[in-house]
Amino acid sequence: MFDPIEKLKEHLRHASVSTDSAFKEGMNGSRDFLAGLFGEMGLNVEIVDTDLHPIVLAKREGDARWPHVIIYGHYDVQPADPIELWDSDPFEPVERDGRLYGRGAADNKGPQMAHIAAVAQALEENPSLPLRITFLIEGEEEIGSPSLLPFLEARKAELSEADLVLLSDTLSPSADQLVVTVGLRGIVALEVEFEGPKSDLHSGLHGGAVYNPLQALFEVCGSLHDSENRVTVPGFYDDVAQVEDWEREELAALGADEDSYRDFLGIDALHPHPDYNPFEAIRYLPTLEFNGMGGGYQGEGSKTIVPSKAMAKLTCRLVGNQDPFKVGALVKEAILARVPAGIKATVEMGHEGSPYLVVPPGRPNTPEDQPRRLAKAFEATERAIGDIFDKPPLFLREGGSIPIIADMKKTLGLDSVMVGLFLPEDNLHAPNESLNLSVIKKGIQVSKKVILALAEG
Ligand code: BES
Ligand code: MN
Repeated sequence: MFDPIEKLKEHLRHASVSTDSAFKEGMNGSRDFLAGLFGEMGLNVEIVDTDLHPIVLAKREGDARWPHVIIYGHYDVQPADPIELWDSDPFEPVERDGRLYGRGAADNKGPQMAHIAAVAQALEENPSLPLRITFLIEGEEEIGSPSLLPFLEARKAELSEADLVLLSDTLSPSADQLVVTVGLRGIVALEVEFEGPKSDLHSGLHGGAVYNPLQALFEVCGSLHDSENRVTVPGFYDDVAQVEDWEREELAALGADEDSYRDFLGIDALHPHPDYNPFEAIRYLPTLEFNGMGGGYQGEGSKTIVPSKAMAKLTCRLVGNQDPFKVGALVKEAILARVPAGIKATVEMGHEGSPYLVVPPGRPNTPEDQPRRLAKAFEATERAIGDIFDKPPLFLREGGSIPIIADMKKTLGLDSVMVGLFLPEDNLHAPNESLNLSVIKKGIQVSKKVILALAEG
């Protein structure tokens, strides 16, 4: 049996940045690494070509009566920039104080390795384990999974007969309080461009006569929230799913403290919607965020112009029942309706993904027809976390997005059991990303218990 931490280090050395074509070698390396590892484990490996980054599919086939679990993960990582803010090379993993530093350590190579190692151990101990396993590891998660939906549709017959999806690509609040994630936000991205005069103008010659496109953009963007941080786009909140009492109780049990959260973020005030506390707002409400805005002169010193153009990139996070295409269209319409005369505006919709909700067994709103093996997976996960982490998990919705989880529900009819194995201090998508090694080691034991429980039938 391989050493999971050493294997993880090997994986982290492949710089698999999916968004930047300069990292093709890293993408290929990461894929070959996984294919090799799954091969050593005796699985049937298939590299499925896509328009961009292939999918690694590795199967342990068996009797059709055996339960079948799909284990999902992604081998792509976010860019390491700004590299100068890293204390060590992002693609040369180093262990320090019980943590492993490197891009992708937490998102998602470490948590994914927990399941790979668990399966390897379980199969080594019992080569005739009555469980069918399909690893589905994609290379485009960080860019919105454009190839995964067509893949699911093409392979629907074979994949939809699985019982459930198991994965770890979500957050737990601390090393001793694990979370089983029961909701993900959806997303829709928009790009806005405002165009005024046909070229930059001397602001002495023309300033005062024309609508400055940057000013117009700030005004329109500034009008999209009210002073209490409600989104002012008509219809924006229409389809927001209701929150069950049990969900509020689980969140209250988390005992999250606003002051420490504020300190953690280094800000002097939080700014949630007035009817929600910050922890509820992250999980239960949609957002409209400005991810980037620009235009005009940004160099050293000053430059007296009226710029010709201004741009903004936005994303909305969506919650249960909201449709990304519908919300994208509402936001686009609201922006276009507010553009002043003298400005030409375009709003383009970018990538999108639906929100996802699943109800664990035994709750007042658990579907009566919840598949037995899914319920069993939730129960086994709860028990395993209780045993290994000495504290049962909380079942919480999450603010982040993994759009493919809703796609697997819609296309394959499969629900997901999501075990949070990264922590707030792991610096996802940021410099000095790292992973708490004790969490991963315990995560392996949890995953193994779940796999063994699933194999019971
Ligand atoms: N692992 C994250 C999703 C996540 C982040 C879950 C934080 C829970 C807490 C995933 O890799 C990710 O970053 N997803 C993107 C999706 C987007 C590019 C469509 C996200 O949430 O921004
Ligand atoms: Mn991830």
